[in-house]
Amino acid sequence: HDRDRISDEKMNSFAEQELWEEHQIGKASWKYGSENKKQASDDYQFVFEDQIDFVKASVMDGDNVCYEEMDDSFQKSKAKSASEALLEERKKLPIYPYRDELLKALDDHQVLVIVGETGSGKTTQIPQYLHEVGYTKHGMIACTQPRRVAAMSVAARVSQEMGVKLGHEVGYSIRFEDCTSEKTIVKYMTDGMLLREFLGEPDLASYSVIMVDEAHERTLSTDILFGLVKDISRFRPDLKLLISSATLDAEKFSDYFDSAPIFKIPGRRYPVEINFTKAPEADYLDAAIVTSLQIHVTQPPGDILVFLTGQEEIETAEEMLKQRTRGLGSKIAELVICPIDANLPTELQAKIFQPTPGGARKIVLATNIAETSLTIDGIKYVVDPGFCKMKCYNPRTGMESLLVTPISKASAMQRAGRSGRTGPGKCFRLYTAYNFHNDLDDNTVPEIQRTNLANVVLMLKSLGIHDLIHFDFMDPPSVEALLKALELLFALSALNKDGDLTKVGRRMAEFPLDPMLSKTIVASEKYKCSADIISIAAMLSVGNSIFYRPKDKQVHADNARLNFHIGNVGDHIALLKVYNSWKESNYSAQWCYENYIQLRSMKRARDIRDQLEGLLERVEIELISNSNDLDAIKKSIASGFFPHSARLQKNGGYQTIKHPQTAHIHPSSGLAEVLPIWVVYHELVLTTKEYMRQITELKPNWLVEIAPHYYQLKDVEESVSKKLPRGEGRA
Ligand code: CDP
Ligand code: MG
Repeated sequence: HDRDRISDEKMNSFAEQELWEEHQIGKASWKYGSENKKQASDDYQFVFEDQIDFVKASVMDGDNVCYEEMDDSFQKSKAKSASEALLEERKKLPIYPYRDELLKALDDHQVLVIVGETGSGKTTQIPQYLHEVGYTKHGMIACTQPRRVAAMSVAARVSQEMGVKLGHEVGYSIRFEDCTSEKTIVKYMTDGMLLREFLGEPDLASYSVIMVDEAHERTLSTDILFGLVKDISRFRPDLKLLISSATLDAEKFSDYFDSAPIFKIPGRRYPVEINFTKAPEADYLDAAIVTSLQIHVTQPPGDILVFLTGQEEIETAEEMLKQRTRGLGSKIAELVICPIDANLPTELQAKIFQPTPGGARKIVLATNIAETSLTIDGIKYVVDPGFCKMKCYNPRTGMESLLVTPISKASAMQRAGRSGRTGPGKCFRLYTAYNFHNDLDDNTVPEIQRTNLANVVLMLKSLGIHDLIHFDFMDPPSVEALLKALELLFALSALNKDGDLTKVGRRMAEFPLDPMLSKTIVASEKYKCSADIISIAAMLSVGNSIFYRPKDKQVHADNARLNFHIGNVGDHIALLKVYNSWKESNYSAQWCYENYIQLRSMKRARDIRDQLEGLLERVEIELISNSNDLDAIKKSIASGFFPHSARLQKNGGYQTIKHPQTAHIHPSSGLAEVLPIWVVYHELVLTTKEYMRQITELKPNWLVEIAPHYYQLKDVEESVSKKLPRGEGRA
């Protein structure tokens, strides 16, 4: 009881702080109310065995809105032509009544902070309004997004609304994919891409408006953009700057931009009922599936949105849902499963936004992207396991890893809110109220304070910004992390002792890649294997989706994969072999099919490679292949990744050389059984253990040869005896 009381008090104080009005409305099981509870429970048990008990905690109040009217207009709009219907829909958005006021405000002020609930129309409408009144006459409108998928899907939507072809007047630009043309006037782009545009055009002269959208996400690139756009707005009075955010902490943005006025778009939000689990859940993925099915069987119509942490989890969830509903036939209503896949082309994403067929229920499986960047209409139920994947960085060791971590309270609120957009909603949190109040942080730490800064530092240096400690950061990174980045860039010879950019560094900055990978490419000139290295870099950039391993054909798939590893060449060279064989097959789809390779990933790798080839030309590195000299290729890789070298230990694990840390070869590596004594790895991932992914064998003397300023002979010789447990080998 005491605990309940305390947590209630906490909830109240939190409610004030977050401006959510919350009411304690007694504790009841969420299903049918207590009297029908047993019946409902029996119905459910009839179909599924396991179930989870929830406690209804509170209702987040909505605004007063008349939703009958909205439903009605939706019906009417069906009869009209597609574009007319879209116009009708546009007029229904919460932002629409404020169009003129907003334009007036921007007329009066150079910088404006815009706050509006997700789904109010900021991203899709504001650039159109600006275009309609002529802002595009003297420059493009840029609208930045933290995520690729959001940039693509929003651009697609806006091109539809404007009745133009995607890539013409409305386009998007994401890393390695430029879907714009001479005609483009409204350009959606990732924040990282706009950052890169500063390199070619430091005053962004081709733009008349910059809208830094989803500012609340505080990605690394967005944070750096803040500093840069603030700077150019001072000597470009004609440039308009919009900072838009879905959350209420707009004051901070306003303060940072010299007290820029805040324009609030009143929301339309319906009440959302919040439910917590009675007890903590051991397996949140399983709990998410059970809860979703529970909703499906016991709750009135309305679509479900489930927040998961990543691609693999989404796929597993999809599989589990299919398995559990298989063979139930008419016992349950149809369940339309819609995974949001970051790698899916725009056309295929469309399924998520299509209205659910009558009698069926849609279940959308998404990552954090659905928290604010994407709005899916019709969601009535949100399942929130309370986790997300987050990048964490240890400046002491320079190690970066993606970790599944608890979300913040602000995130949890945002997630819950997604269910109350088109009518009253319900949110099912797969954690207890006690966990919520006591274990979750209030806000997510901005990325700039938990990431490797080497990339950003290289970019700022190439923009001529030398004094990084005094750069105008909204929230500065730790000095330690900045120094670590400088140290790494110095080790890679991108900076000299005075911290100035070297020729190597200038060349590296041309590549939109991690500095270690850029360095690998630049170094390939010396080893005469640039053509091979850019193939490898392209394959690495695609991520871990090259090999395809269907559940029923795992043995075949594994054998096919092992073919590329013959001779224990290591993972980098295996990737090169995959790429080259595909090329020899004339980029054949059949070849991919036979070798259990994902065609989609290969096409992307080819695109990326083409662009890297263009960049090689720009930095004047000749395109030559040296496939017969594998050592040359390995030395190039070591030239970029020498800080990622590790040595085998007696126990079969590895230890990194410079900052001793234990790691293991990832089971998916071709060298997982071989266990070479010296390796370089592409990245470290922390799952059940600290794993090194993408491994190549290395000769220890190469380290001294390639990076004499980083490794001394004693590092590679003595480490044998020094690092053996309990002084073995010292005797
Ligand atoms: O940016 P904000 O969250 O304020 O809203 P928005 O992204 O402009 O979305 C406004 C509306 O456009 C949403 O409610 C969706 O109905 C629609 N939309 C869509 O149908 N397809 C998209 N890819 C994006 C938005
Ligand atoms: Mg938006």
